[in-house]
Amino acid sequence: MTLSIVILAAGQGKRMYSQLPKVLHRLADKPLLERVITTAYALTPTQAPIVVFGHQGDLLRERLAHLNVSWVKQAEQLGTGHAVLQALPSIPQDHRVLILYGDVPLISTNTLEQFIQTVPSDALGIITAHFPNPAGFGRIVRDHQQNIVRIVEDKDANATELAITEVNSGIYLVPARYLHQWLPTLSNHNAQKEYYLTDIISLAVQHNIPIHSSHPAHHEEVCGVNNRAQLAHLERFYQRQCAEHLMLQGTTLIDPNRFDLRGELTIGQDSIIDINVIIEGKVSIGNHCVIGANCILRDTIIADGVEVKANSIIEGADIAEHCVIGPFARIRPGTELSTGVHIGNFVEIKKSFVNQGTKINHLTYIGDSEIGKHVNVGAGTITCNYDGVNKHKTIIGDHVFIGSNSGLVAPVKIGNGATIGAGSTITQDAPANQLTLARAKQCTIEHWQRPEKQTKES
Ligand code: UD1
Ligand code: CA
Repeated sequence: MTLSIVILAAGQGKRMYSQLPKVLHRLADKPLLERVITTAYALTPTQAPIVVFGHQGDLLRERLAHLNVSWVKQAEQLGTGHAVLQALPSIPQDHRVLILYGDVPLISTNTLEQFIQTVPSDALGIITAHFPNPAGFGRIVRDHQQNIVRIVEDKDANATELAITEVNSGIYLVPARYLHQWLPTLSNHNAQKEYYLTDIISLAVQHNIPIHSSHPAHHEEVCGVNNRAQLAHLERFYQRQCAEHLMLQGTTLIDPNRFDLRGELTIGQDSIIDINVIIEGKVSIGNHCVIGANCILRDTIIADGVEVKANSIIEGADIAEHCVIGPFARIRPGTELSTGVHIGNFVEIKKSFVNQGTKINHLTYIGDSEIGKHVNVGAGTITCNYDGVNKHKTIIGDHVFIGSNSGLVAPVKIGNGATIGAGSTITQDAPANQLTLARAKQCTIEHWQRPEKQTKES
């Protein structure tokens, strides 16, 4: 049976106290709703999930424009049953419908795949969980044979029902034909005056439709985000899971509680990540790397044996084997470092290629440059790449020595083996293998005397 996936996301999210719709708040840098949509793709790669939205639909569509989604508007939020009803016109009778929530971001593909496999195609499936503190959730009411007979909402429950700790996750798998049959018949005679989707359980019982329940692998998978504290709780759970996964694959995390993955990381063996490292976007790290404390790595490729020392920020770069970077280095997009390059403290490199064995160790800005092999760039070197309108290139050959505190005014070329005297402002190409310097000549004034302070007495 073909699977249709409906994601409910029409609620306002009042308890977030936010201008932003709740489902656009981010967990590990990805909007909550995008996480659920991505999970839906994993289950039905060829079919767009149906997202039921209410508030700020334009903003939702704009922010998630890169995703293939079939959007359905629920103009008024009259309850979860009413929400699914809005999606039904586009779901054929012979499909099965999986219902998910835009604010339950961590439901896993694994849990859902197992759920879908275990529920017979003509039965109704529901994911439930045992929560020590079930307040707020719908409770699962079972008969003496442990068959599920109905769900009672927290606000409608009596004292006995409130004591039930098995809760409704809200995730169901239902043959579409039953939804077509039942949803138009729901009533809103309840404490919240809402059309409850939960009523499909008692309807299934009435119609002798078997009900299958299963549990998620982790409680957090069925936890919703209603406020920012719950969001932070789920973020920590997610981060801990990512950390466990990396450690079990052969990465040493000095403290798994102080590691943040906000994207995708592929990493080899025996690499060590110190505390407070943040990985963003798509990052790959090779074998035997050491990433020091407080580093941020974004959209970067790092080959084997690289050492990134503490407090460095690397973005959009390609770092070859055995480079040493930092501490306090900033590597910006479009940078490529060849094998064994050393970048030291307070060095910024932007959109530049640095060939193998070159050292740029202190207080330097390199932008829009090509630097050859085994170059030594002295402390305080600046490539003056910007004239206020255009950016220009600096090209430095192999085995060049740039003396400290030099300004290289681009466009400019320094030939192979050239030496630039310290403190030079280089405005013209410097020839290969020569010493070039551009600075005022030093002189000494003989017999010069410092002025002396007059004392009061004299
Ligand atoms: C719902 C379930 C409850 C379950 C809980 C799990 C019902 C009646 N109750 O309760 O049994 O334990 O979820 O978290 O279903 N939504 C819409 N349109 C609406 C109303 C809700 O799209 O008109 C969406 C919300 O955006 C949210 C989800 O449905 O993502 C759940 O709605 P919410 O009002 O939070 O349901 P609960 O009262 O928590
Ligand atoms: Ca509600």
